[in-house]
Amino acid sequence: MLKKHYKLLLKCALAIPIIFLLDFCGVLTHLYELDFETHYYYPLDNATVTPPDCKFLQMPTFMVDRDLADPPRLTILVKSAIGNLQRRQAIRKTWGYEARFSDVHIRRAFVLGMPAEGGGSKDAAQTEAKHHGDIIRADFVDAYFNNTIKTMMGMRWASEHFNSSDFYLFVDDDYYVSIKNVLRFLGKGRQTHHQSLLFAGFVFQSSPLRHKFSKWYVSLEEYPFDKWPPYVTAGAFLLSRQALLKMYAVGRTLPLFRFDDIFLGMVALKAHIPVHRCDDFYFDRPAYNGPDSYSDVIASHGFGDPVEMERIWNECHSANYA
Ligand SMILES: *[C@@H]1O[C@H](CO)[C@@H](O)[C@H](O)[C@H]1NC(C)=O
Ligand SMILES: *[C@@H]1O[C@H](CO)[C@@H](O)[C@H](O)[C@H]1NC(C)=O
Ligand SMILES: *[C@@H]1O[C@H](CO)[C@@H](O)[C@H](O)[C@H]1NC(C)=O
Repeated sequence: MLKKHYKLLLKCALAIPIIFLLDFCGVLTHLYELDFETHYYYPLDNATVTPPDCKFLQMPTFMVDRDLADPPRLTILVKSAIGNLQRRQAIRKTWGYEARFSDVHIRRAFVLGMPAEGGGSKDAAQTEAKHHGDIIRADFVDAYFNNTIKTMMGMRWASEHFNSSDFYLFVDDDYYVSIKNVLRFLGKGRQTHHQSLLFAGFVFQSSPLRHKFSKWYVSLEEYPFDKWPPYVTAGAFLLSRQALLKMYAVGRTLPLFRFDDIFLGMVALKAHIPVHRCDDFYFDRPAYNGPDSYSDVIASHGFGDPVEMERIWNECHSANYA
């Protein structure tokens, strides 16, 4: 009799850590997820929201004159941080160089926030803005999970202040980009083959991470469904003017989600804009074995070192691929 109890007790004692472990790995959480196909909705509390009250502190100087008469084909909005001056300098010389093509009007601007305590100086950013005239700065704290605000402020500037461009490329400052391949993807001149609502890039179809040790852990309270909406990696994506206007108009009515790319996926779903998968956008950097290996690359993540980016871009440029 006693022996039986003892065995049961032992079983329970063994079960408890296993349950904890399963919970920690997210196995139990999965049981409580809702089916995305039948249950998805957003915002989760169904409340109407007021978008965060952000102001522009600085805008580019090029917004007048020439751009009204001759609207840009492409506007490049680079999401950067105040401290990343070297990356911006490399981008200005390479894929962000506006006069790269004599017959295609291109504009470039960097989107910045406010430095967190001790992260780079505001004054330096002001001097840079004066010198280059290509800085958009807004009054949010530049922190990783404020990326959604940064993306939305870039979209807001484009929608409300610079909405004559045919297309917009949003890209992080740690990317390699071939503007030549971007333009090729978009097609020549006004005869673009894409539909008017274009939202393109590297598309993910994935599920929320439920193991509690992950940096990307998402609780059921934050997001109860078993899948994310299809989304484009926010590190590099293309929007047509119409898609931009619609995405911004819908996006400003939704509560911001912590991950900017998933937020844009939610916005696109709500706005009925299909995500267009393009395999020449890379999330995992492809191996570089000379310019031929990058002949078709449109954009690739993984170029946090501006010296390396500049070297590879110059090689691809010489080979006529960038
Ligand atoms: C929000 O609306 C959806 C769809 O109408 C509904 O299923 C859900 O229960 C609502 N959520 C809350 C928290 O009221
Ligand atoms: C995001 O920005 C807001 C507005 O500036 C700020 O209150 C908040 O602290 C920032 N978040 C982080 C994680 O810094
Ligand atoms: C487009 O930009 C102009 C300024 O160039 C602005 O007056 C207009 O309101 C903008 N359109 C939208 C939809 O915000």
